[in-house]
Amino acid sequence: MADPRPIGVFDSGLGGLTVLTELVRALPAESYIYLGDTARLPYGAKSSRTIQRYSQEVAARLLEQNIKLLVIACNTASAHAESLLRSELAIPVLGVIQPGVDALLAASLHNRVGVIGTRSTIKSGVYEQRIRARKPEAQIFSKACPLFVPLVEEGWIEKRITQLVIEEYLSEMVREEVDAVALGCTHYPLLKKAIHNVYPALRLVDSSEEIARQAASLLASTPGLAAGTNSRPQVRIELTDLTEQMNDLERLLSGLPVSSVEEIQLSAAAPH
Ligand code: DGL
Repeated sequence: MADPRPIGVFDSGLGGLTVLTELVRALPAESYIYLGDTARLPYGAKSSRTIQRYSQEVAARLLEQNIKLLVIACNTASAHAESLLRSELAIPVLGVIQPGVDALLAASLHNRVGVIGTRSTIKSGVYEQRIRARKPEAQIFSKACPLFVPLVEEGWIEKRITQLVIEEYLSEMVREEVDAVALGCTHYPLLKKAIHNVYPALRLVDSSEEIARQAASLLASTPGLAAGTNSRPQVRIELTDLTEQMNDLERLLSGLPVSSVEEIQLSAAAPH
């Protein structure tokens, strides 16, 4: 038996398309609906309460479309809303934090690790908790890097100012001899090359490949959940705000078998 229902993937914006790309690569027979809440980006500076409400609204929209699995590609939403959504939804929910932690600990040689993310992600302390749960002896250095998101959005990857901001945020970790850093935000993988140019010895870990591997293993181990070989896979993109400035959209979507890109409106979550 096969299950042709789509996998729902959500992010506050377009950065999560890197996760979608890895999912499509790992599970090409599946269909996907990607919802980017571009109208309300950034999530990274908002309160836990607001991030949870936004996440519930996005999840409700995806559930209306009969998804069989929810992948939270956004680190900030994973940090604040993953356990809430898991307790509320009847379908499996995967967030990016645990795959990021697994990949980080696999990459680190000396258990001196760094975590970078938005203010809300770092404030939640969830990376530290999950790292300590697996490796109590790990030395963890965390840093909120709020300027990275606007630099990426502006496309200023190769500018001198970006190099200075990288030094400002990461020099302390490097002094502390951290050997691997989790890129705990959807936008940061786009800065990998720039960070590598400044700190070539630092291992930079992003969760997209690992979450795709975990999604593939979930589908393989749950009888009847995979789409099967006769499926006609579709990738639909829904954004809560579609502007003409989204230069990145075309680039990020290139290589993905996208069948539609649509602007949608979310309904407000029912108050608890
Ligand atoms: N998607 C967010 C994350 O991964 C970054 C952008 C935002 O602040 O909304 O944390």
